[in-house]
Amino acid sequence: MFDKKVINKLGRIDTPFYYYDLKLLRNTLEVVKEEAGRYNYKVHYAFKANANDRILNVIRDYGFGADCVSGYEVRKALEKRFDNHKVVFAGVGKADWEINFGIDADIESFNVESIPELEIIDELAGKKNKMVNIALRINPNVNANTHHYITTGLEENKFGINQWDLDKVINVLAKLKNVRFYGLHFHIGSQITDLKSFRNLCLRVNELQKWFVSKRLFPRIINVGGGLGIDYENPNGNPIPDFKVFFGLFDEILELNPKQELHFELGRSMVAQCGTLISKVLYVKEGVNTKFAIIDAGMSDLIRPALYQAYHKVENLTSDMPTEKYDVVGPICESSDSFGKAVKLPHTKRGDLIAIRSAGAYGEVMASQYNLRMLPLAYYSDDDL
Ligand code: LLP
Repeated sequence: MFDKKVINKLGRIDTPFYYYDLKLLRNTLEVVKEEAGRYNYKVHYAFKANANDRILNVIRDYGFGADCVSGYEVRKALEKRFDNHKVVFAGVGKADWEINFGIDADIESFNVESIPELEIIDELAGKKNKMVNIALRINPNVNANTHHYITTGLEENKFGINQWDLDKVINVLAKLKNVRFYGLHFHIGSQITDLKSFRNLCLRVNELQKWFVSKRLFPRIINVGGGLGIDYENPNGNPIPDFKVFFGLFDEILELNPKQELHFELGRSMVAQCGTLISKVLYVKEGVNTKFAIIDAGMSDLIRPALYQAYHKVENLTSDMPTEKYDVVGPICESSDSFGKAVKLPHTKRGDLIAIRSAGAYGEVMASQYNLRMLPLAYYSDDDL
């Protein structure tokens, strides 16, 4: 990803910044398109992973839909000319203006997370004399075996409608005049690398489908959310997740009814590996039993390590000296502003260029101005830097 020419170019730009390899992005999307296409599965890209304009342009040009979790994301999807009939809108707390915005935009469907929300969508649609598609987001109580902060499909999580409420939901649904039952939606968590979790989800969905059909409700679509994990340890060895095995698993286990569509909402697996946070070493300082490499990127640029103790591979792009261990830390006034302890790097000095890898998902989009820092800029491999 980083040959000498690229490193020289990156070295001339003010740090920190995100660097996106758009060729890798396109290669990844090709694979998603091909592997999902085999079964005619539909993929909605989860905007929350990365809503950078250039990234969205590329994703839109492949014809993917948009999975949005705020009115702002829905607005962005329309601005970026995603097909409104391929925009789905999820989230436990949709404000009235957001629902109205989605109704006016004739989006594909609302993924509904509670009975009160269902009633409000019906009421707002009624005021506009419109009929809107709704998919019920059901909490399947399947363990994703991932970090507890990014687990969503357990009964204790705030997401989705719990199974003991299903009778009630369908009674309410039967009375509402401005919502049309479109499908069932699930999402069990993110950065899932153990495919058994998806297998368990499929089995659960099969059971739930049967229950709905027994109530004479026929979901037109099943949406199994996102969550496919990526290889943070070895981004060069595994730049593209195994979409073939992933989609193949659903084909093998999920029992779809004739004409029913299967939808996915992939975020991380589509964009994570194409993004890198590039930074420079400001100082190397001796600690008690360690050396600190203090870099100019911090948790305001990439919060995942501080928030989830997430691992991102750190590389020194400009040194080829023998390896030493460093605690790689940012400039922000928080002890959690660290990118890794005892990271093995070639001997590192002020001015060296540091790459924090696999930062294309939940990186730039979660950046803040904490300490009144600037939001990070972004550069792209397609451009003449
Ligand atoms: N669909 C729904 C309903 C979701 O809540 C999410 C992610 C996705 C799809 C996309 O999941 P993905 O394919 O990207 O795993 N900030 C955290 C991740 C939060 C994920 C939230 N929901 C992180 O940096 O790890």
